[in-house]
Amino acid sequence: MEEKDLNNKISRRSFLTYVIVSLGGLMGAILTGLGGGYFLSPIWRKKEDSWIDLGLVKDFTEGEPLKINFTVRKRDAWSTIESKSSAWIITANQKDFIAFDPKCTHLGCPYRWSVEKRQFLCPCHTATFSVDGEVVSGPPPRALDRYPTKVVGGHLLILPQVVGKGKEV
Ligand code: FES
Repeated sequence: MEEKDLNNKISRRSFLTYVIVSLGGLMGAILTGLGGGYFLSPIWRKKEDSWIDLGLVKDFTEGEPLKINFTVRKRDAWSTIESKSSAWIITANQKDFIAFDPKCTHLGCPYRWSVEKRQFLCPCHTATFSVDGEVVSGPPPRALDRYPTKVVGGHLLILPQVVGKGKEV
């Protein structure tokens, strides 16, 4: 009888040891999975389009191109990179907007709007573009590149990524 009790105690002790070791292992695996998931999740996270709010549509003058400067924030895994950029915005009716990439399509110089000539002028190789971005003169191989635009809640938003190249000359 006494021997049987001893065997029972030993087997009970072994059983408890197995249970404790198993629970410890399970908790360790869960914590490792959660921690690993937390630190690796930026790598798997789907990149979102970063639309930028350029302000109220009513603040844009019809027929007059306006250069808007803005900050682009890009998430790269664990860090956020900021860069300055700009776009030329034009609208004929404050409903439909065109946003031009600010770099000339020849060699990337910044161009400007001439109120007198009503054309965009690139000083690098004396190119000119019409108000709708078409090449009027000079060496550029295509019209000005555009950014996607949309109007949400009375605000103009642009996606500062050239998705379609300007029409070739
Ligand atoms: S870079 Fe604009 S004309 Fe050459």
